[in-house]
Amino acid sequence: MGLLLARNPCKVVFMIHLKTHSIFTFGLALGLFAALPNLAHASADLAKKSTCMGCHAMDRKVVGPSYKAIAARYQNQPRAQVIEAMATKIRLGGSGAWGVVVMPANTKLSEANAKVLAEWIIDGAK
Ligand code: HEC
Repeated sequence: MGLLLARNPCKVVFMIHLKTHSIFTFGLALGLFAALPNLAHASADLAKKSTCMGCHAMDRKVVGPSYKAIAARYQNQPRAQVIEAMATKIRLGGSGAWGVVVMPANTKLSEANAKVLAEWIIDGAK
């Protein structure tokens, strides 16, 4: 080994580099893996915290349509556009898409969080 070190230092350094690199990649992948379910969970919590659940449920109409019905309705439309329009409607409120009952504005919600909620709903509110 001492001989190898002395003779071929580049190779040893390269191997150490490879090793740290793969540990880093592995750690990153592990971190992402752990974070993903938390993200989904965070959206459900956000919906609860933002009082959406007072008017919406997963699969039955309450005051507003169910998340399932909303997701189904916009499934075949361009995703980015739907999310954009939905986030705006979540923040500003409105009526007419589902009936005459008005969804009040949720202006306390940031644009970023409105988008997170819109994406969560489109993906099935899991
Ligand atoms: C006071 C009741 C109420 C609350 C609170 C409420 N909504 Fe609604 N929501 C409605 C009603 C009523 C509609 C149907 C509006 C319509 O017909 O255009 C609706 C529609 C929607 C739609 C479909 C919009 C469309 O154009 O198809 C989404 C998405 C939505 N709500 C998400 C949310 C989210 C997310 C929250 C929490 C930040 C929330 N709502 C809070 C009553 C409510």
